[in-house]
Amino acid sequence: MKKIVILISGRGSNMEAVVRACAREGWPARICAVISNRPDAAGLGFAAANGIETKVVDHRRFDARESFDAALAHEIDRFEPDLVVLAGFMRVLTDAFVAKYAGRMLNIHPSLLPSFPGLRTHQQALDAGVRVHGASVHFVTPTLDHGPIVAQAAVPVVAGDDAAALAARVLKVEHDIYPRAVRWFIEGRLSIEGERQDGRVVLTPSEPQWLFADIAGEGV
Ligand code: GRF
Repeated sequence: MKKIVILISGRGSNMEAVVRACAREGWPARICAVISNRPDAAGLGFAAANGIETKVVDHRRFDARESFDAALAHEIDRFEPDLVVLAGFMRVLTDAFVAKYAGRMLNIHPSLLPSFPGLRTHQQALDAGVRVHGASVHFVTPTLDHGPIVAQAAVPVVAGDDAAALAARVLKVEHDIYPRAVRWFIEGRLSIEGERQDGRVVLTPSEPQWLFADIAGEGV
């Protein structure tokens, strides 16, 4: 049984998708804990209601990133996880923290990386005039929103879209690819070729590491 710890900061809908898929598909894994840096993160309620241990490490109580990350790592390590899943965890992590979980920490970012790292990705996409946008699941490396890409999902940008409409379309495919990617990790099917910073992720046995959504946001 593999152990997973999920980090959230807010709504937690990606966490919820992973928790539900784990239960529904009977993964050989257990979600040991959901940890938030915000006490008011809505996702904590879902986790607790589903019998998952929850913990808050409030970043405002720390005066430096290093001390916050050390406290966070301390809580994570109590569960001895095989995998740390960042699911809308809105903190920039120190290099030391990232190094500690190298090769066993995944993130989902709401853009087709390497386009649009950082915040407000949907507005960035609209401003750039791209016709295709999406989400990426990647291994976490010290460079923010970088690292070997495990899976990507693409959605169209259509006339009349605003950032909220685009975000909703992307979120729907996030809930598809993130559980899939986590499951691949749990099944021991992911390996990284070359340097971690820019390596290519190989899935064995192979299957599509992409998803294209149609206009209604359904996978095709
Ligand atoms: C998602 O769009 C995720 O890609 C981004 O932040 C959002 C979090 O949503 N990092 P939720 O908390 O999973 O609902």
